[in-house]
Amino acid sequence: MAKTQKKRTPKTSSKPHAAAAGSRIPLRITDTTLRDAHQSLWATRMRTKDIVGILDTIDAAGFYSLEVWGGATFDVCLRFLRENPWERLRLIKSRAKHTPLQMLLRGQNILGYQHYPDDLLDRFVALSCRNGMDIFRIFDALNDNRNMEYAIKAVNKHGGHAQGTLCYTISPVHTVEEYVRIAREQVQMGVDSICIKDMAGILSPISAEKLISALTANVDVPVQMHCHATSGMAVATYVEGVRAGAGAIDCAISVMSGSSSQPAAETMLSIFDETSYRANLDRDALRKICKYFTDLTPHRNLSSQPINPIDPEILIHHIPGGMISNLRSQLQQQDALDRLPEVLEELPRTRADLGYPPLVTPTSQIVGVQSVMNVLAGERYAMVPQETKNYVKGLYGRSPAPINPAIKKKILGKEKAVTGRPADLLEPILPRITLEMEDPTLINEEEDIISYCLFPEQAKEYFQWRALPTEDRPPIPADLERKKQSAPAVEPAPDSASAKPFLSDRDYREIRDLMTKVNQFQFSEVTIRRNDLALSLKAEGMQAARTPTSEPAPKPEAAETSGSEPVGSPPETIEPEVSPDADGPAVKAPLNGTFYLSSGPGKPLLVKPGDTVQAGDAVCIVEAMKLFNQIKAPSRCRIVKILKQHGDPVKKDQPLIRIEPL
Ligand code: CO
Repeated sequence: MAKTQKKRTPKTSSKPHAAAAGSRIPLRITDTTLRDAHQSLWATRMRTKDIVGILDTIDAAGFYSLEVWGGATFDVCLRFLRENPWERLRLIKSRAKHTPLQMLLRGQNILGYQHYPDDLLDRFVALSCRNGMDIFRIFDALNDNRNMEYAIKAVNKHGGHAQGTLCYTISPVHTVEEYVRIAREQVQMGVDSICIKDMAGILSPISAEKLISALTANVDVPVQMHCHATSGMAVATYVEGVRAGAGAIDCAISVMSGSSSQPAAETMLSIFDETSYRANLDRDALRKICKYFTDLTPHRNLSSQPINPIDPEILIHHIPGGMISNLRSQLQQQDALDRLPEVLEELPRTRADLGYPPLVTPTSQIVGVQSVMNVLAGERYAMVPQETKNYVKGLYGRSPAPINPAIKKKILGKEKAVTGRPADLLEPILPRITLEMEDPTLINEEEDIISYCLFPEQAKEYFQWRALPTEDRPPIPADLERKKQSAPAVEPAPDSASAKPFLSDRDYREIRDLMTKVNQFQFSEVTIRRNDLALSLKAEGMQAARTPTSEPAPKPEAAETSGSEPVGSPPETIEPEVSPDADGPAVKAPLNGTFYLSSGPGKPLLVKPGDTVQAGDAVCIVEAMKLFNQIKAPSRCRIVKILKQHGDPVKKDQPLIRIEPL
């Protein structure tokens, strides 16, 4: 094993554990207000102008570093704010002269939800450094260091500070010894510091004391703590962790702290004032920053805040709050909300079968949906989305514990699992990507190509918008959301800020009553979008319709633990039942969901009437719970009639395609 190399840390950082002037030990505080805090509390809707408006004060406040980029910010910039994320980074760098900038990098996933080839990762890191990034916090959802190694190398090569990460979770295999082993391996790979990432907020003060004591005794790089305040333990956890040797903690300005964000900087400053640790933040500056974001909050935080700032349940079952609300809405879509208790019992079993993955994107989604399917199908692993299959196949990396062999066999059949580093299977992307672009004149700089590789659809839309004369540009999606939000009160859509209706109460009631009369359904929810004239309805016992124009792939932009982020990949098999009825046999929907005739925008139709298909050929897709289920022909047959439109909502057991067995 290579000997650990000591590398430079950012200019302004102080050495860990070194005594400052006098006898007090410096405590470094990273400010997350400009990234994690608004990602956790404002659905990542902070604009660059919001940041620039207070950046001088934040830069002068005495923070160790400013987390300003990465996570969901990149995606949301393009998709909702019509901003160039690279331009945001450059602007921040030009204003923050004193404090190093920091970002969250999902290892081989970069900022997306799948593995990317090494050439893209290298250029991403090179350009991030060139545009002003100093510290890269690199993590992998499975703590599989093979998914982090190339990112660590790239950051070292391009002159950044590489921070390794331990995603904290609780399971029989996540022992202190195991975390120490993972951390040591990261140090050997070349990290400059290690962060404990407690995305669910379940690291207790006593566990932190044990873990950090062991880490500081066994690794010779500084240890930082990143805790979410979800369970209410984080403040005490920071105190114990720092006393055990953590040299840095992540905080947010008070008005953007607590709940699913980090603990407040002001609180931690006062607590450590009475100890031998010295955080050295400027209280006047903090007061100004707090005032600034207090004034901004009503304009940016449009979601209704949870009534209880503490999620007490997470202390008991360790399932992140965001994940439970997702399970609830997934079950609602399947008319099976009453089965939530069964799913909550099933979830730890599924997680154990899958080798105890930490519940963070994308594993939270995989474990959550698989648990729902295990309960609804009546037989465990009878229904398996492609994402679960890919996970079991090793395409996300190595599970913390071995996957239950019987389950593995049931899911993979004769297919062999991958044992190497998943990214080794990927061809370089950069040589071919420019050839794939429909309109290369939209590209202004190399950074645009990276944006396009990571989020092709969103980047293209943004580039097209940017290319228009200012007066011809359509309004930005985030402004439309705001307009809808400030319209008269209506029943909010449960899951999506962008799908909020803007009808008056009276409009709403009239439409609902009319639709009830016409369709003889009891409609509980009606959504009208005026710009694209789309109407969607939610009847009792029927899921909301998607507009025919909406893409099959729903796109993520959620907090780290929400589990609401879909994991894009090809669809999977569900053996359908063939329903013999008056009109002949048909392929039926195995779940409530949305019917699609192709596997994505621009993809060809899977079948059309008159086609002959073989047993096992895909005939359509039913998207349920944000995962895509390929529906296969039960036998050799002829397609007689497509009974549903692309994008139609479908109910379990509803006939989808009339077939004639051959
Ligand atoms: Co976080």
